[in-house]
Amino acid sequence: MTSFVRNQWYVAAYGHEIGRDLFGRTILGGRLVFYQTSAGEVVALADRCVHRRFPLSESRLDGDTVVCGYHGFTYDRTGRCVFVPGQKRIPRTARVPAYPVVERDSFVWVWIGDAEPVAQPPRAPWLADPGYTTVCGMEPLAARYELLVDNLLDLSHETYLHGGYIGTPEVAETPITTEVDEDRGIVYVSRRMADAACPPFYAKSTGIEGRITRWQDIEYHPPCLYLLHSRIAPAGVLPDGDGSDPHGFHVEVVYAITPETAHSTHDFWAVARDFALDDHGVSDFLAESNRTVVLQDVAALDVLEQVIAAEPSGYQELSINIDTGGLAARRILARMAAP
Ligand code: FES
Ligand SMILES: [Fe+2]
Repeated sequence: MTSFVRNQWYVAAYGHEIGRDLFGRTILGGRLVFYQTSAGEVVALADRCVHRRFPLSESRLDGDTVVCGYHGFTYDRTGRCVFVPGQKRIPRTARVPAYPVVERDSFVWVWIGDAEPVAQPPRAPWLADPGYTTVCGMEPLAARYELLVDNLLDLSHETYLHGGYIGTPEVAETPITTEVDEDRGIVYVSRRMADAACPPFYAKSTGIEGRITRWQDIEYHPPCLYLLHSRIAPAGVLPDGDGSDPHGFHVEVVYAITPETAHSTHDFWAVARDFALDDHGVSDFLAESNRTVVLQDVAALDVLEQVIAAEPSGYQELSINIDTGGLAARRILARMAAP
């Protein structure tokens, strides 16, 4: 049973998705409308006119106000109604909820919940860092967000689901270490392969021939942000003692996991690299490969959602060591979702 975690920041969109056109998106079961003001700030409002529920996303912008496409109720950027047709008096309750927004690291974050935002959203600084080149996308997932959390916290599935792209035998063979920062609510899962085959995803992008040292260090900031710090180097090549790493290739894989409904999810993905920065061939290859990998996960999780929807309640899964990170994430999410 899906339970949403409210009073949290969620990625609503990439900054480049939202401009001077009204943009509708459903988040945690609620429909929101987004737009950019003439000063360039992003506004998020509930996507339902207070009058007869017409979607504001199907309406039009007039300057920085939204004019309802049905009878013309007009809302300012705070959601307050500033015009109604046929009368001077504007009812006091004529207002739609406005949502706090933070735009950074190329994401538009929106605060979903009744409480005031307690802190800023977590960071993914590589996505807007000139020292990195990023490819990104978003795939709709017809499955509850918890299945994507499970999927991303256990990368041993790369060997079986993503063979020929990012999976090699060593991923599933190598044990993980898991740590949980209970105070900050962050899950860390690490898998370090000293001598592994180089999958095509990294062989073609880095140009490394032969075996590699491959590190996968995951950081999950529930509920929405998932970071995979990936380091690839020719086998046996480690960072220098002073912490610099001139012979390592670094890929920051970022996912934002935003529930759309109880049974669907916005699966935002981005791949930032610190090498071949201006090489469009590498960008095109990584974008295409990573999208294929994401779609392999989407296909598997869409099937799982159907299996879960059809099964009798009370089915007991079996968990093993590879699931330690996913189980920790579930525990933290359950705690965060508790009233
Ligand atoms: S539904 Fe929006 S003005 Fe009537
Ligand atoms: Fe996957």
